[in-house]
Amino acid sequence: MYTDLKGKVVAITGASSGLGKAMAIRFGQEQAKVVVNYYSNEKDAQTVKEEIQKAGGEAVIIQGDVTKEEDVKNIVQTAVKEFGTLDVMINNAGMENPVQSHEMPLKDWNKVINTNLTGAFLGSREAIKYYVENDIQGNVINMSSVHEMIPWPLFVHYAASKGGIKLMTETLALEYAPKRIRVNNIGPGAINTPINAEKFADPVQRKDVESMIPMGYIGEPEEIAAVAVWLASKESSYVTGITLFADGGMTKYPSFQAGRG
Ligand code: BGC
Repeated sequence: MYTDLKGKVVAITGASSGLGKAMAIRFGQEQAKVVVNYYSNEKDAQTVKEEIQKAGGEAVIIQGDVTKEEDVKNIVQTAVKEFGTLDVMINNAGMENPVQSHEMPLKDWNKVINTNLTGAFLGSREAIKYYVENDIQGNVINMSSVHEMIPWPLFVHYAASKGGIKLMTETLALEYAPKRIRVNNIGPGAINTPINAEKFADPVQRKDVESMIPMGYIGEPEEIAAVAVWLASKESSYVTGITLFADGGMTKYPSFQAGRG
């Protein structure tokens, strides 16, 4: 438990499933007040809300498309209207789909860039605007990936979006450090979430991915949520502009593990 998170207002985009859901529930366990943004699945968002409340937190759900400026503004406004302020913004909504780069339709490129990168920018911008205008030493957490540094064939849009998030976060961290507004990334590796469900259900693909993880197993969403609460708490008060990889060592060149090379 991080006692300073009790009563803190945390907005999380894409919080009806996967990593967003796990983080929302963990913040509930910390007795925070959580704005659960969802895109299409109201029923799942409602379940997340109930789980947060059961855990001792407060919650409100809000539909919104992170690629739309007005919707993102509305997420921040909902936090203020329902809970009186905003302390932590987590830009988590994201997507991926595999396509060979030379055949990737512009539509696919734009969709992933708009959701993962522009969505995180809009969420960061709106939160920081609120912090600056209200003199709040707020916190922004963006969801990056191991693919902010590892190139990923068939996912050029996704890798580009995460590479963009890396420098966006570093830039925002530098720009707002004098105001004590912290901006950090979490860089998950391969995690057991719906985005990966099909891939990890296939034993061959699962084994293949596991072989790329020095720690030898696919991570659980709760292991990412644990990083999020630390980055949101004052325990990390001197940390800004980093990507905290939670990847079982995936970014540490696993093919060299046995002393090859
Ligand atoms: C992706 C996963 C992938 C992992 C490791 C993540 O960013 O969302 O689908 O398994 O990176 O490649």
